[in-house]
Amino acid sequence: MTNVTVGVLGSGDVGKALARGFAGLGHQVKIGSRSPEKLADFAKETKGVSAGTFEETAAFGDLIAIATLGTATEEAIKLAGTKNFEGKVVIDATNPLDFSGGMPPKLFVGHTDSLGERVQRWLPGARVVKSFNTVGNAFFVHPDLPGGPPDMFIAGNDAEAKKIVAQICTHWGWGVIDVGGIESSRYLEAMCMVWVLHGALSGSWTHAFKMLHK
Ligand SMILES: NC(=O)c1ccc[n+]([C@@H]2O[C@H](COP(=O)([O-])OP(=O)(O)OC[C@H]3O[C@@H](n4cnc5c(N)ncnc54)[C@H](OP(=O)(O)O)[C@@H]3O)[C@@H](O)[C@H]2O)c1
Repeated sequence: MTNVTVGVLGSGDVGKALARGFAGLGHQVKIGSRSPEKLADFAKETKGVSAGTFEETAAFGDLIAIATLGTATEEAIKLAGTKNFEGKVVIDATNPLDFSGGMPPKLFVGHTDSLGERVQRWLPGARVVKSFNTVGNAFFVHPDLPGGPPDMFIAGNDAEAKKIVAQICTHWGWGVIDVGGIESSRYLEAMCMVWVLHGALSGSWTHAFKMLHK
């Protein structure tokens, strides 16, 4: 994947980490928000990154990453315009976290459905790959953990799209574990809870998953 345009939907830490990572790979990146003006400083200080509305950002990217609040992801996709996702590889890094009952959060969908599956249903023409949802954003790019490269768990229906996302993960220092179709997002979103609960109980947020093989 050389010199593609990337649209990152989301102005939070996850969106910024992905935007920095893609710019670091030499891609042209647009990062999106309902209020792009708040990203002006970030865009100015990050080479290769510009800011735009969700719609401008989705239209810009050959590849799109979704990094929006779980409960607002449908709304963000509507604002971005579903036609702007047609045929594109879409990284879905969201988690369906419900903080309404305080900490720890709960999943607002699971077991028989997932946010990843919803994103794929809202964007039937897109090639959605659930990924980057099972680790904190500080470790997305070159995690460099003492125990060796962690594994990024990915799920999606399109083999070629998963290959592209796997290449990105490899460039950023990850092993990759493909767990099947987009319905496997149910389990990857539950894994996020394992990551969060361990962080909350240990008071440390520097962990990542790795599958060990004999
Ligand atoms: N924190 C982590 O390290 C981590 C790791 C992996 C996955 N995740 C997941 O990644 C996603 C992003 O997390 P985050 O912490 O970076 O940011 P966040 O606060 O969860 O989401 C921020 C984004 O959501 C958008 N948003 C919020 N309410 C909206 C609404 N009503 N309509 C449309 N858009 C709305 C915001 O838009 P504006 O820009 O317009 O404000 C912003 O772009 C979440 O789903 C999270 O669970 C987080």
